[in-house]
Amino acid sequence: MLYDVIVVGSGISGLYSALYAKKAGFNVAVLTQSNPFRSNSAVASGGINAVINIAELDSVARHVSDTVEGADGLSHLQNIEKMFEEAPNIVKELSEMGVGFDEDAEGNLEQRPFGGASANRTCYIADRTGASIVQTLLVKCRDEGVHILSNHKFLNITQYNGKLSGVTVLRRHNTQVIALACKSLVLAGGGYAGIYRGHSTNSQESSGDVIAAALRAHMRLSNMEFVQFHPTTLASTGALISEAARGEGAILVDETQERFTDELQTRDKLSRAITTHMLKGHKVYLDFRHLDEKVIETKLPSAQKMALNAAGVDIRTELLEITPSAHYSIGGIWTREDTSTDMPFVFACGECAVTGVHGANRLGGNSLLEGAYFGRLAGREAARAALKRDFQPVDYADVNKEMRRVELIVEGESHFNINAMRKNLGESLFRNAGVFRSESTLADALEYIHYLMKRSYGLHCVNKERHNNVELPAILEFQNALTIAEAMVVTAMQRKESRGVHYREDYPMRDDRHFDSASYVLQLQYNYMRVSFENAVQNNLWYNIKKALGL
Ligand code: FUM
Repeated sequence: MLYDVIVVGSGISGLYSALYAKKAGFNVAVLTQSNPFRSNSAVASGGINAVINIAELDSVARHVSDTVEGADGLSHLQNIEKMFEEAPNIVKELSEMGVGFDEDAEGNLEQRPFGGASANRTCYIADRTGASIVQTLLVKCRDEGVHILSNHKFLNITQYNGKLSGVTVLRRHNTQVIALACKSLVLAGGGYAGIYRGHSTNSQESSGDVIAAALRAHMRLSNMEFVQFHPTTLASTGALISEAARGEGAILVDETQERFTDELQTRDKLSRAITTHMLKGHKVYLDFRHLDEKVIETKLPSAQKMALNAAGVDIRTELLEITPSAHYSIGGIWTREDTSTDMPFVFACGECAVTGVHGANRLGGNSLLEGAYFGRLAGREAARAALKRDFQPVDYADVNKEMRRVELIVEGESHFNINAMRKNLGESLFRNAGVFRSESTLADALEYIHYLMKRSYGLHCVNKERHNNVELPAILEFQNALTIAEAMVVTAMQRKESRGVHYREDYPMRDDRHFDSASYVLQLQYNYMRVSFENAVQNNLWYNIKKALGL
């Protein structure tokens, strides 16, 4: 099958880019591996930031300065400024498409406070903002004629004579590997916080598939060491209790019912404050009991439902135990200002891309905006790129290789348990590369990743069923998760300072002299990764994967 533009991912950035490429007159397909409502966009519930009350209490300049300050360095100022200038138009455009943002009695958009923001600038739909936007964009894409290919799991980028020719895809309903040709490609497949399985707000599918594929295709990754922990997730499951809760006035207390921290500080600081308190032996709870029942029912219905269904807690009368969990990956595929990547005709946007707008720590409510802003841009740029070229032949040797890999995983005899391995990886990363990390914990994480890598070759499906086999995608995701975990941990070991969400107990200070600089990971040839820093402090650390594995 041939498409002018293929978009991998059906979160806000993917759907927005598909819409804009389609509006430019092109034949567009969106690949989505399962249900679009499992994307991180749909999970992000609290809202989308935009300066609406310019005349009154807020300004774009303030939005910029809050974001840059919260970012703790590494910000791309030009991208930030452009994105925030456009934010009010994006909210307006979404409203016109049918997104029903909450309004006051006079019909003005309501905005709530969020962490690190000096004004109320988060527009919302109760506490289900992301899901509402995804739903509207999905309908809009379908109406415009975008092909939504669901249950199509992206595997790899294919090239012909070193140039993009298309993608390989696993059709999950019949376990068939196919190739789809395209003139330009948008990677919008989400982040990798799901690799912290058991300690993540993300679905297990957020294991960095597109980022791992980009690394295999020799594209540059950046800032992989920065993974944001959301301060308030259910202690029992890691499910998100939106920042909307604190924005609407819920407070954090411990078992003595005493407040111990500022609920609306930035997420990096708040996650550390909570974790430190827990390490001292305390339990931490969200307390909603002083809130008006009407506020809970109208502004926080999802939190109320989640607490009741998943923890058996009635937040109107009981405390809800929480803990920080991995929520958002700041690192990913390096991009230019126009969303282009190292590979011609390939663009990236959303959580899988590094645009520099979050620096080393993201403010809540800025990522839905990032998805929309850079999604639009990627759609336009991918359309322009598609105009400039013809389809390239797909090299069927690549497709055959993928077919053989999939056959081997399905048909081989299973030696290990995928669920246990995924869970153990998540536990190890949470313990050793979590809110706090150090040289020795990161070394432990790396050793365990290598242990799992060797065993991952022995992972095969127990159930050989070809129709909607759920083990096969889980194994493929796990292999990508290990690639991503290795890149993340190796880079975290090299960043010998503390900055934003990356807190090294052995280097507790920010070190601008040596590390005010993005990090990069590149796989130049199979088995070799190079970690470098923009300002050349640690340039050219070669990392031999095979040697590390003792092979
Ligand atoms: O807490 C939340 O609703 C998450 C929002 C975000 O990650 O931007």
